[in-house]
Amino acid sequence: MVQIEELKQKVAALAEEGRARLKEVASPEDCEAARVAFLGRKGKITELVKFLPHLPPEERPEAGRLINSLKEQFQAELDRRLRELKAQEIEKKLQEEAVDVTLPGRPVALGGLHPSTQALREIYRIFLGMGFQVFESPEIETDEYNFQLLNIPPDHPARDMWSTFYLTEPGLLLRTHTSPGQIHVMRRFAPQPIRAILPGKCYRYEQVTARAEMMFHQVEGLAIGRNITMADLKGVLVEFAHQMFGEGRRFRFRASYFPFTEPSLEMDMDCIICGGRGCRVCKHTGWVEILGAGMVHPVVLRNGGYDPREFTGFAFGMGPERILMLKYNIDDIRLFFANDLRFLEQFSGGLR
Ligand code: PHE
Repeated sequence: MVQIEELKQKVAALAEEGRARLKEVASPEDCEAARVAFLGRKGKITELVKFLPHLPPEERPEAGRLINSLKEQFQAELDRRLRELKAQEIEKKLQEEAVDVTLPGRPVALGGLHPSTQALREIYRIFLGMGFQVFESPEIETDEYNFQLLNIPPDHPARDMWSTFYLTEPGLLLRTHTSPGQIHVMRRFAPQPIRAILPGKCYRYEQVTARAEMMFHQVEGLAIGRNITMADLKGVLVEFAHQMFGEGRRFRFRASYFPFTEPSLEMDMDCIICGGRGCRVCKHTGWVEILGAGMVHPVVLRNGGYDPREFTGFAFGMGPERILMLKYNIDDIRLFFANDLRFLEQFSGGLR
């Protein structure tokens, strides 16, 4: 007969063994293995019930309590270890996956405005300061607006200066200059006075070279009113050029020809590169042309809805790309539209 004392020793030994085993578990899987080994169907603690039949009946209840409390004790310890391990696992994960918010970020590549856009905006800024407003007009034009209303009849030799692309639709073409916008803005506002600039893309059918593109920008300017004279034209353009190119520059006006202005002129600036001494850029004249201008031709005023006996006006046209070429000594206009980032990125910090 097994005595209860022997059972008590067994229980004490298993309690010790269980604690030792649970000290060593290192994962939830280890815990499960320990549970099976002690409390499973053939577990060491479970097997203790085999003692019961060998005990005298009066000792069996106490033996049962001993075994049960061992079971509970082991189970409680096991649960505690399992919670501990899970907490450790979470802690470890948190540390491994921690984000170091003090690390410098990866720089995001920012886009920049195209140099032509920057030049356009600078031109707007200057003319807005002198009371001009921006007026847009279409890139697809009629022959009438691009030529005839500007005093360039069909077959007039002046058309040779503005060969363009024609649409399959008869009478439509891509505008060769922003000057047709003069007629649009006059017809919109006549007989009120006008101070407007007309920016946009222009197109010309010509061999593309370092000096000529088939597409480029222009900014047209138009002022209509009573008593507007060439002195106003000169004052406005010199003010513009000083703001655009710097105070120290010198300018001159040369007689020229455009069918839609009379008299017509071209404005030159002393060459930035050589300071007027003469170099390759200014073709050794010391001067570079910056824009074309003139007093609005009476025929054009009338086509726009103004009586030339009452109104006068001036107009000018300039190319933002050309202005940047002069300002930064860029020798090839094709660079503007070739999408080469090495060129474009030089303007990402703005115009200087
Ligand atoms: N439209 C002219 C050109 O394309 C420029 C110009 C505009 C000249 C207005 C005089 C007045 O070259």
